[in-house]
Amino acid sequence: MTNTTNPGLEGVVVADTRISDVDGERGRLVIAGADVEQLAASTSFEGAVQRVLDAGAAEAAAIDGSPAALGAARAAAWEVLPRLGDALDQLDGMDALRAALGHLRSDAGEARAAIAAIGAAPVFVAAWSRRRAGQPPVAPDPALGHAADYLRMTLGRAGTASCVRALDAYLVTVIDHAMSASTFTARVIASTHADLISAVVGAVGALKGPLHGGAPGPVLDMLDAIGAPAHAEAWLLGELAAGRRIMGMGHRVYRVRDPRAAVLEQAVRPLHSPRLELARAVEHAAAKILRDRKPDRPLAANVEFFTAVLLDAVGLPREQFAPTFAVSRIAGWSAHVIEQRRTGRLIRPASRYIGNAA
Ligand code: COA
Repeated sequence: MTNTTNPGLEGVVVADTRISDVDGERGRLVIAGADVEQLAASTSFEGAVQRVLDAGAAEAAAIDGSPAALGAARAAAWEVLPRLGDALDQLDGMDALRAALGHLRSDAGEARAAIAAIGAAPVFVAAWSRRRAGQPPVAPDPALGHAADYLRMTLGRAGTASCVRALDAYLVTVIDHAMSASTFTARVIASTHADLISAVVGAVGALKGPLHGGAPGPVLDMLDAIGAPAHAEAWLLGELAAGRRIMGMGHRVYRVRDPRAAVLEQAVRPLHSPRLELARAVEHAAAKILRDRKPDRPLAANVEFFTAVLLDAVGLPREQFAPTFAVSRIAGWSAHVIEQRRTGRLIRPASRYIGNAA
């Protein structure tokens, strides 16, 4: 029997990885050898996908994550849609994505399953979003870039170049983030030698919670409820007095502002969102209030704060924010599954029995 428990597993290192690295003290995120700021400014989502998959596979066989391969995977996913039945109509976005991914073939080999899953996620999420709005799904165009096609399938028309660029930057920025709860979930499942599709389906479940990927919708709700910078302080104090947390603030690893917040704040600027100024004011007020309340626990904006502003500005409904996180992160999960299967060991920690003696 163990004598101590560490229920949040803080600081426990469960894997050696080449995929990404988070420095929580300095606010730095490196993705497969590049700073997130540099990657978001210079690479498309397809380029980032190739990077993380190559990092996960390391010296093993090369994976084709090219725009053509992802386009073909989106087209293949469109053929799966008729088999999804009521999943798209009756479930929320994360549950619909989880159910839909479960229809992908899991016996095709890991590299092919990874591309199939990364290609399928935007098709399933966009189809869900349109059905929810009472509109027919839009078929993918394999010749388009991933971000452009995702936006087109969602809106039913081509997005503007600046919206596509902003969405592409978002998808690159959140593609991987070391041992997040969903990535750990994927690696635990992969460590049992279950298939990649099972691992990413499990990861979608972990991402759904408001402490992980479910926060950006509530961040937008908060901005709406506050309405104007002058109301921020009173509203935030009311939330804390009611025992609630401020969504989009705080992080398990970062002790400074999440570097992805700055990348997304920069990416959303060309879109002239009326919410950007409000978001900055609310962040400023929240940081000050939390600093006064918890001087020993730095609580700054996390990625979800400006995710909400960006995804809203490109035209996605707020119910689609968490599933859009999955559209990107599924690439990171896949890379981790490949890496785990190549290098890892069955993940099987211990528990401390506090029940009655026999
Ligand atoms: N608003 C108000 N208080 C917060 C807070 C927030 N957003 N985040 C943390 N705190 C407080 C906690 O209540 C706790 O106070 P206590 O010691 O008096 O109980 C203290 O700060 C430490 O928090 P803890 O729960 O140990 O932090 P964590 O590492 O487990 O939590 C998050 C990290 C992200 C789960 C947490 O900051 C949070 O819930 N944020 C809001 C949700 C969110 O934005 N999620 C997206 C994450 S990318």
